[in-house]
Amino acid sequence: MATAAQPETQDAIALLKADHRKVEDLFASFESARGADRKQKLVQQICTELTVHTMIEEEIFYPACKGAVEQDLVDEAYVEHDGAKVLIAELLGGAPDEEFYDAKVKVLQEQIEHHVEEEEKRVEGMFSQARKAGLDMNALGEQMAARKSELMARFEAEGLPPPETRSFSGHELVEGEPVDEAEGGRADSARGDDAAPRP
Ligand SMILES: [Fe+2]
Ligand SMILES: [Fe+2]
Repeated sequence: MATAAQPETQDAIALLKADHRKVEDLFASFESARGADRKQKLVQQICTELTVHTMIEEEIFYPACKGAVEQDLVDEAYVEHDGAKVLIAELLGGAPDEEFYDAKVKVLQEQIEHHVEEEEKRVEGMFSQARKAGLDMNALGEQMAARKSELMARFEAEGLPPPETRSFSGHELVEGEPVDEAEGGRADSARGDDAAPRP
């Protein structure tokens, strides 16, 4: 019989799904949250969970899916992660009393719901394709669990780094005027792959 101290083998898909449920719960808590402090704390937790989750998927799980899962699905997953990172950067640089803050949280929640659906969908979803292809879920789970605790400890000590995108070339949103005329005029927008932390 296993002792309590012995770590259980962690199935990769079970680990990723548990992350998804945790983030869904945090978003649900945000919906009923009142007060700037509470909101900011929840957003910090959401951004931390999502940052670590996207990192372990991109570093370990998605590369393992190469050849095992339809490539279109994996490509879309990277772009969806990068879309989320733009909002994560915005939220980390913002404050709950700012205009659009709640809207950014809501849109991030909706994007993540869609993304999670694509990963978890029965039969044609990424996870079920990966399972069917016979990937070693115990080995992947072990690797991801180790990387996850390493990242969690680091971010707790040092704070979250600015998100790094993998599929975006990096640009900023310019409203109204033609993009080329406004270039260079708004250096403080969230940038995908080369954002510097805002003071
Ligand atoms: Fe995921
Ligand atoms: Fe994902």
